[in-house]
Amino acid sequence: MIRTIAVIGAGTMGHGIAHTFSRHGYQVNLYEPFEAVRVAAPEKIRSELQFMVDEGYITSADLETGMSNITMYDDLEAAAKEADYVIEACPEKMQLKQELFAQLDKICKPTTVFATNTSSLKLSEMIAQLPPERQALCMVSHWYNPAYLIPIAELSKFGNMPEEVFQEVYELYVACEKQPVRVLKDITGMVANRILHAQARECFYLAEIGAASPEDIDKALKYGPCFRNATTGMLEVADMGGLDVWLAAEDNMFPALCNSDQACSAMRELVEAGHLGIKTGQGFFSYPEERQAQAQTEFYKRLIVQLKASKQYI
Ligand SMILES: NC(=O)c1ccc[n+]([C@@H]2O[C@H](COP(=O)([O-])OP(=O)(O)OC[C@H]3O[C@@H](n4cnc5c(N)ncnc54)[C@H](O)[C@@H]3O)[C@@H](O)[C@H]2O)c1
Repeated sequence: MIRTIAVIGAGTMGHGIAHTFSRHGYQVNLYEPFEAVRVAAPEKIRSELQFMVDEGYITSADLETGMSNITMYDDLEAAAKEADYVIEACPEKMQLKQELFAQLDKICKPTTVFATNTSSLKLSEMIAQLPPERQALCMVSHWYNPAYLIPIAELSKFGNMPEEVFQEVYELYVACEKQPVRVLKDITGMVANRILHAQARECFYLAEIGAASPEDIDKALKYGPCFRNATTGMLEVADMGGLDVWLAAEDNMFPALCNSDQACSAMRELVEAGHLGIKTGQGFFSYPEERQAQAQTEFYKRLIVQLKASKQYI
């Protein structure tokens, strides 16, 4: 039974993963080697939980539960030795993750499940040097950013893990109000990011050729495909419309769609000019300095609106 969870790395993803588990009653040991990140983490976590309280999503008692169930560690062994489930959210470097798992294999109990939050690295390569018994307890558990607001968690079910172990992890995520997705093949980007980037490629291309203004491309997405897809997935939408209709549309549309195997050149030009989005004040849109904090907060508020709405999906 999973009671104690070690989260490795308290960066963008790790701190949010940690307080999602802790808020739902799990004991979380959060390991972070870099002092500045480690010292800042509790305040960052508290402010995100407070935001959820202010937006009426959780109670002050939930906030206190979330805070009291997290312990920060600067020592990997102390953080991981009692853990039933370890999830790593350290930088996306194969060698670093391989070495980390090798270390954890020596530290952890034989029954501890190891998870990686990798976005793009192969699980099989990451765990190749581990003994077979441990490989059978390794998985990808892929969260979306911000981890505490986006419900999806993609869980690998690649056939290396006993069914009852997978099921226990699946239930852990359900208990934390996540919507776990079983990913059956070890493919780059798992499922959600493949869908995301297919859609993103077309949006960026439409911006590049000036098919519509950036505002209108985003408006088309929000009030068109994504409006429908928020409640009804793509495959079901196709069934509702009629597969004969979709077949004809795809035969007509596919030759016209962007099929570039490189990132969009409009985006490349922006990046080369130092326009990285909100963090530099300019991306597809402009973010004057005095509006940056507000724009960021509005983004998170919209995610809470959607998180609340998702509870009503039927
Ligand atoms: N940022 C995203 O949108 C996102 C989304 C999904 C998955 N991911 C994946 O999650 C993982 C973490 O990404 P992130 O964006 O949180 O990165 P990050 O750089 O924000 O955080 C990584 C943290 O790990 C710490 N760290 C560095 N070396 C370490 C070590 N040897 N052991 C333990 N911790 C170490 C760093 O100090 C840092 O705090 C990556 O694999 C990434 O691909 C990121």
